[in-house]
Amino acid sequence: MSEKFYITTAISYPNGKPHIGHAYEAIAADAIARFHRLSGKDVRFQTGTDEHGLKMVQTARDKGVDVRDLCREMSDQFQAMCDTLNISYDNFQRTTDPMHQVSCQAMWRKMHAAGDMYLNKYEGWYSVRDEAFYEEKELTTGDEGVKLSPQGTPVEWVVEETWFFRLSKYQDRLLKLYKERPEFIQPEGRRNEVMRFVEGGLRDISVSRTSFDWGIPVPDSPGHVMYVWVDALANYISGAQSLSGLGYGTNDFTLMEKFWPSEEGPDGELKPANVLHLIGKDIVRFHAVYWPAFLMSAKLPLPKQVFGHGFLLARGGEKMSKSLGNVVDPIELAEQFGVDNLRYFLLREVSFGQDGSYSPEAIVTRCNAELANSFGNLAQRVLSFVGKSYPDGLPSPRRESVRKFVEHKADWWFEGVIGDDNSMERGFIPRVNFTLMDDKMIDTFIKTWMDCVIRCNKFVDENAPWTLRKEGKQEQLDDAIVTLFTFIHMLAIAIQPIIPTAAGKLLDQLGIPEDERSYAALADDTWYDRLRASSHRIAPPTPIFPRLEMPTDVK
Ligand code: MSP
Repeated sequence: MSEKFYITTAISYPNGKPHIGHAYEAIAADAIARFHRLSGKDVRFQTGTDEHGLKMVQTARDKGVDVRDLCREMSDQFQAMCDTLNISYDNFQRTTDPMHQVSCQAMWRKMHAAGDMYLNKYEGWYSVRDEAFYEEKELTTGDEGVKLSPQGTPVEWVVEETWFFRLSKYQDRLLKLYKERPEFIQPEGRRNEVMRFVEGGLRDISVSRTSFDWGIPVPDSPGHVMYVWVDALANYISGAQSLSGLGYGTNDFTLMEKFWPSEEGPDGELKPANVLHLIGKDIVRFHAVYWPAFLMSAKLPLPKQVFGHGFLLARGGEKMSKSLGNVVDPIELAEQFGVDNLRYFLLREVSFGQDGSYSPEAIVTRCNAELANSFGNLAQRVLSFVGKSYPDGLPSPRRESVRKFVEHKADWWFEGVIGDDNSMERGFIPRVNFTLMDDKMIDTFIKTWMDCVIRCNKFVDENAPWTLRKEGKQEQLDDAIVTLFTFIHMLAIAIQPIIPTAAGKLLDQLGIPEDERSYAALADDTWYDRLRASSHRIAPPTPIFPRLEMPTDVK
C-alpha cells in the first residue's frame, strides 16, 4: 500500500481579493503535493477559505453587503485563483460549509469532555485584523498612541464573558513535543521563536465570543460562537462527506482513517499523522501552539510538521499593503507572464522559508535566462536536430556505457563528454537532487536542476552534433543524441512539480506516455527501447518557453 501524505495550506480570509502572497503559498504547496504524487505517495491536498469572525462581519458592513454574499463572492475568487494557477487541490474547504460545523462541534465536545473548557470573563487586547488576543507585554505603541499587535495591527480592549481553553495545562507537553520532534516546527528559526514563547509561560485562551454571531455555535451554550481560530484550525480535519474534507465527527470515517489515522506507537502515544501544514510565518503560533494543544485535548494525533514559509514582499522589500498601493494581483501576473513562468519565478527566486521580493523585471530576467534561453533552447535545438537528422526514428546507443546510461544502470549522472577516440571523457554533470524537495528546499532543488540544464547545453557545444554529422562520425553522433535525449527526458520529468504544463508539453513532444512520467519511470530500463519501437517521431518542435518582453509600464 502506498504511503499517505496530507498537505494543507492556510485557509485564507476572503475579506478581499487574493494577492500574490496567497498565490505564493498555494503554488509552493502545489509543488510539494505534485512532488509527492510523482514519488508514488497517495497524496491529499487541501486549501480553502476562513469565513467567520469579526473581520468578515466588519468588511461586509463597510461594503454594505450581506456577510454571506461577501463570503460566497470572495471565496469563489480564491478558488478561481487556485484553478488559474493550476493548483492541484483535492478539496477546497469553506468554513461556512454545514458539515464543517459538525466537525468543529465534535472537536469542541471532546475538548470540553477532557475538562479543558470553562466559562470566565475575558478582559484584554484583541486585534480584529489578526483575529487574535494579545498580552500587554507583546504590544507596541504606534502613531498617535495607538496600541499595536506584534504584527503591527491595531488592538482594542475587549470585555466579554467567554469560554476559556486550558492552554496552560499543555505547556509541558508542548515543550516536550518541540524537544523530541524538532521537525515539528520548521524552519529552525521559527521553532526557536515558538519555544521561547511557550517557555515564557502559557495562559489559558478565550475561545468563544458573545458580541457577534457570525461563527459556529458553541454546543449547548446559547449566545456563544467559537473563536474563529478554533473554527479555522478545525478545517484540517473537518468537511463534508468523503468527496471533500476529511469528515472528522461525521458518519464518514474513510478519509480521516486514511489521512489522519489514530494509531498508537510502541510507547502507547498516538503516532503523528503524515500531515504537513504549510503556512506563513505570521500564523506559526496558532499552528504550533494552539493547534497541537487542541488536538492533544481532543485526543487526536498531531501532524508531522508545521512549516512557516516567509513573506513575499513588494519591490525594495516593502510590505504589501492596500494603503501603499503595492498589492499585486496574481491573476494579472499570470496573464502577463504565463502561469508556469510565475510559478517558476516564485519558487526559484525566494529561498524557501525566508522572505523574498518580487518585481516584473525580476520575473522577466529570470524566466528569460533560465527557461527560455537555457532549458527551452536546449530542448529546442536537440529536438529540432533529432527531427531533421533522424526522420526514421531515434538512434540506438552504440556504446555499452551509453546504453547503461539510458537504462539507468550506470550512475546516470555520469561524466559524459564523448571523445574522438570513442571513449567517454571525464566531465562533470551535476545531479538534480530530489531529496532537496523532500526537505522543502524547493529553490535549491530547482538550482540543481538548472545546473544540470546548463551543463547539458555545454555538452551540446562540446560535442557539436552538427559537426559530427558533417564529418560523418555517425557512431559518436548517435551516442551524443541518445545521451542528450535521455537528459532532456530526465529534466522534463524532474521539473513537473514546478512547471507542470510546460513540462507536460515537452514530454508530449518527446513522445512519453502520460502514465510513464512519474519519478519511478526514471528507474525504468526499457523506456528508450519502447519509445524507439513506437510510431512516435520527433516533429519540428514549437518553442515551449517563448521569451518574455520587459514590461514598459513597470509599476
Ligand atoms: N485565515 C487565517 C489562516 C487560518 S489557517 C487555519 C489567515 N488568513 S490570511 O488570508 O491572512 O493568510 C493566508 C495565508 O497567506 C497565511 O499563511 C499567510 O501567512 C499567507 N500570506 C499572507 N500574506 C503573505 C505574503 N505577503 N507573503 C506570503 N504569504 C503571505 O491568516
